[in-house]
Amino acid sequence: MKKLLNSSLEWVDDRFPLVKMWDDHLGKYYAPKNFNWWYYFGSIALLVLVIQILTGIFLTMNYKPSSQEAFASVEYIVRDVEWGWLMRYMHSTGASFFFIAVYLHMFRGLMYGSYRKPRELVWLIGMAIYFALMAEAFMGYLLPWGQMSYWGAQVIISLFGAIPYIGDAITLWIRGDYVIGDTTLNRFFALHVIALPMVLLGLVVMHVLALHDKHVGSCNPDGIEIKKHKDPKTGIPLDGIPFHPYYTVKDIMGYGWFLIIFCLVMFYFPDMFGYFLEANNFIPADPMTTPAHIAPVWYFTPFYAILRAIPDKLSGVIAMGASVGIFALLPWLDRSPVKSIRYKGPMFRIALTLFIISFISLGILGVLPAEGLYVTLARIFTVIYFGFFLLMPIYSTLDKTKPEPERVTM
Ligand code: HEM
Repeated sequence: MKKLLNSSLEWVDDRFPLVKMWDDHLGKYYAPKNFNWWYYFGSIALLVLVIQILTGIFLTMNYKPSSQEAFASVEYIVRDVEWGWLMRYMHSTGASFFFIAVYLHMFRGLMYGSYRKPRELVWLIGMAIYFALMAEAFMGYLLPWGQMSYWGAQVIISLFGAIPYIGDAITLWIRGDYVIGDTTLNRFFALHVIALPMVLLGLVVMHVLALHDKHVGSCNPDGIEIKKHKDPKTGIPLDGIPFHPYYTVKDIMGYGWFLIIFCLVMFYFPDMFGYFLEANNFIPADPMTTPAHIAPVWYFTPFYAILRAIPDKLSGVIAMGASVGIFALLPWLDRSPVKSIRYKGPMFRIALTLFIISFISLGILGVLPAEGLYVTLARIFTVIYFGFFLLMPIYSTLDKTKPEPERVTM
């Protein structure tokens, strides 16, 4: 049996670089030996991507992308299709957990300076993934054709109308009609199930290839480069261990913890008290009745709060776009001589804490009505949010850092 397997592998390997791929990315990919649990979230994001694609395929088998049938077809999936309820709630819970995993993955990058040289491109490809993920989630949310699907899309698409001269033409082009209707639903369906998943998959492959490039490699909680100290004979980093079996086993542990929490939410709180699935979305879309409060799902609310904090529509739209896009500039805004928060000084620590407080507060304000004190608070947190990025070249230069160790610490 072993002989047969070996000769089959040889046969394939003569025609396809299977062993080389395994070695380059797993068996002989040397990752720093000091990864902690923050390093779970990249592979968890990968797991969620697979869950979303698989459950999405089964949902598509019974979903009807038509404004007359979409809402009822989702109800049918949940109530009548065998295991349909599981596919639907796995997919809807998966959407929120995707963002949780990606936000924690990005936060790890902020803490350990993973975006700094030589990983700028890994970070920029990550940003492209983040944009694609936002578009994917936004389009997916229209598909159940509930009240929030309809009115949420209405609000977001109408934002493009704020662009001078061409705004109205663009909104018409996106909707494919004068109102959100069957045409919009059809094109969002096509983009959600085919185009964007393909883009996402392609980008994730590029993301990992860029990280595994021979000049790059993984960063670590100390923010130092393990490739600086290699064994002179083998050329293997002294602080590196092969990804497989060490980190494959570690990641399985992360998957275990993740799946426990994921299943708990999916089976017992699939709507997460209105944060993962909004109450209004259990009512069919009605173009004649606007809901009292229109709020996007939680993962968009920090940016939505920034949009509403600014009275002028066009400036609000620009600020909202900038609040997402500004992450892409981080590799060039951070001028600190060290990468990791472990060796950065008090200024960075305070700035990062204020940023986290403002991000979460904006997230909360985004679901509350935009009036009175809430608007004032949203303005204060918007200033802090942008301050974190725009003042970074100054405070990262002035900050009192500690010396980095030569070799990784455990
Ligand atoms: C579908 C979404 C994503 C997937 C599946 C994904 C996957 C991964 C994987 C498997 C790794 C290597 C393991 C690890 O370091 O955790 C990684 C590393 C990394 N990712 Fe992502 N990622 C995603 C989104 C993002 C986003 C949105 C960003 C930032 C904008 C980002 C930035 C990074 C960086 C900087 C690293 C290197 C970290 C280091 O070496 O310290 N990723 N990603």
